[in-house]
Amino acid sequence: MRFTGKTAVVTGAASGIGRATALRFAREGAQVIAGDIDETGGAALVAEAEAQGRIRFQRTDVTAEADIVALLAAADGPDILFNNAGAGGQRGRIDEIDAVGWDATMALLLRSVALGIRHAAPLMAARGGGAIVNTASIAATMSGAAPTAYSTAKAGVLHLTKMAAADLARSNIRVNAVLPGFIVTNIFTATLGLTGAVRDQANAAIATVAAGSQPVRRPGRPEDIAAAVAFLASEEDAGFVTGTHILVDGGMSVGPRHSWDADSPGLFDALEAMAGK
Ligand SMILES: NC(=O)c1ccc[n+]([C@@H]2O[C@H](COP(=O)([O-])OP(=O)(O)OC[C@H]3O[C@@H](n4cnc5c(N)ncnc54)[C@H](O)[C@@H]3O)[C@@H](O)[C@H]2O)c1
Repeated sequence: MRFTGKTAVVTGAASGIGRATALRFAREGAQVIAGDIDETGGAALVAEAEAQGRIRFQRTDVTAEADIVALLAAADGPDILFNNAGAGGQRGRIDEIDAVGWDATMALLLRSVALGIRHAAPLMAARGGGAIVNTASIAATMSGAAPTAYSTAKAGVLHLTKMAAADLARSNIRVNAVLPGFIVTNIFTATLGLTGAVRDQANAAIATVAAGSQPVRRPGRPEDIAAAVAFLASEEDAGFVTGTHILVDGGMSVGPRHSWDADSPGLFDALEAMAGK
């Protein structure tokens, strides 16, 4: 019950990582104000909350500044903000993108985080402090994990996290990021507009792929990220942690696949095979 008496605002709360984190905050005693564009998912979240009444949902489009302001106002004094809403953004290589798609991706993934912090800061300062956690991605640190526009926006979120931590230290506000690896959520099927049974089938296939994508031999789960977010948001556990990030990727970033997958040959395995050794 680390968050008893605290109010936590969560964006992108109708699905995946945001949903799991909203439930975790509520289970640990917080009053949660959940925002998302998906009102059906938001209603389902409110219904599922074990502690009835502890999660309130408000339709929120994080690309609209007024919606962010309204969500924070609904919290009536937020102690915690989880800037998490997102989607795949514009796909394609840098030589394929267009200005409209690029701007939309940055508005959803980067500007929304900046504005969330910007509008939460004075409210938290007035309460004597607070904690902000931003969802970046393993794609912020490497290529090959997500499209170029998405990865660039997430790298921006990572640096914004450091800048905001420095700017807001005087107000006793800590700012950190979580970098998920490959987590099985609807983000992949949403990018392709899949719904219903087809979406469920695709998610089952994604889970199989995810289980073999990193040293930890199981799919990444939204709850894995929620646990890290709860740690970073907790004054008790992470009161001396700001301006940094936690990578929760099952070890995906440790190195080339052959270093952790015994069935995947590396260069010397291939040379030894050629040399008949
Ligand atoms: N799943 C992964 O492997 C992974 C990896 C790294 C980072 N992330 C990041 O995690 C965050 C959550 O994604 P997820 O994987 O839980 O996906 P998800 O699709 O399950 O959840 C994302 C939620 O954001 C909401 N959303 C989208 N656009 C919005 C908008 N304009 N305003 C408000 N809400 C909006 C969606 O409706 C959805 O409920 C995203 O920022 C994503 O980039 C995910």
